[in-house]
Amino acid sequence: MDSKNTTPKHAATDGPTTERATADGPATERPVKSVSASRTEQVHILFPGLLNHQGHLYGGKLLEWIDEIAAIVAMRHCGGNVVTASIDHLDFKAGAKMGETIFIEAFLTYVGRTSMEVRIDSYVEKMEDGMRHLINRAYFVMVGVDQNGKPTPVPALKIETIGEQAEWEAGKKRQELRKRRVTEGF
Ligand SMILES: CC(C)(COP(=O)(O)OP(=O)(O)OC[C@H]1O[C@@H](n2cnc3c(N)ncnc32)[C@H](O)[C@@H]1OP(=O)(O)O)[C@@H](O)C(=O)NCCC(=O)NCCS
Repeated sequence: MDSKNTTPKHAATDGPTTERATADGPATERPVKSVSASRTEQVHILFPGLLNHQGHLYGGKLLEWIDEIAAIVAMRHCGGNVVTASIDHLDFKAGAKMGETIFIEAFLTYVGRTSMEVRIDSYVEKMEDGMRHLINRAYFVMVGVDQNGKPTPVPALKIETIGEQAEWEAGKKRQELRKRRVTEGF
């Protein structure tokens, strides 16, 4: 069974319109939205059509689900269209087999002017004890775009917890590295 993207707390905006994104950013005129407003979950059960000849989940199928959930998180945050600008840290840590349940959760870690970094964690969830075992972690950069496909400003991110602050700082470092990769070509 294929699942669907569940996160009912989705709200249009949930913060004042002139709040800072985080302590290291300048005051902004943009709307502000919390991490929880766009957090999204998916659940899938592995049937034969999703498996490779060895009986394991296709990596490409997991990637499709991850790309979809990353886009949904970003669209929930910006309320408009997005494109995938960059995929990195796509680490496959373990496989998944026929009949197993895949639980995927995704949330924003860092938001620039038009870009949004989404962290996506995928797990095998054991029905016997409810334990989740991480099989993949990925970071996607999505960019808000207008009707002409041009980058357009997105709401700032409201940082509410110590964990979110740590994610923000790590996401900021990753985005600086990506920018260097683009400009220096390595
Ligand atoms: C992503 C895209 C919109 C960026 O356009 P651009 O003209 O390079 O725009 P900019 O240089 O102004 O960059 C816009 C934002 O994207 C970010 N960005 C651009 N390329 C990036 C990359 N390779 N990695 C991470 N971030 C990137 C920039 O840092 C900037 O973020 P900021 O506004 O938060 O600072 C454009 O390259 C594009 O349309 N790519 C194709 C997307 C696509 O087809 N994806 C697959 C299907 S959805």
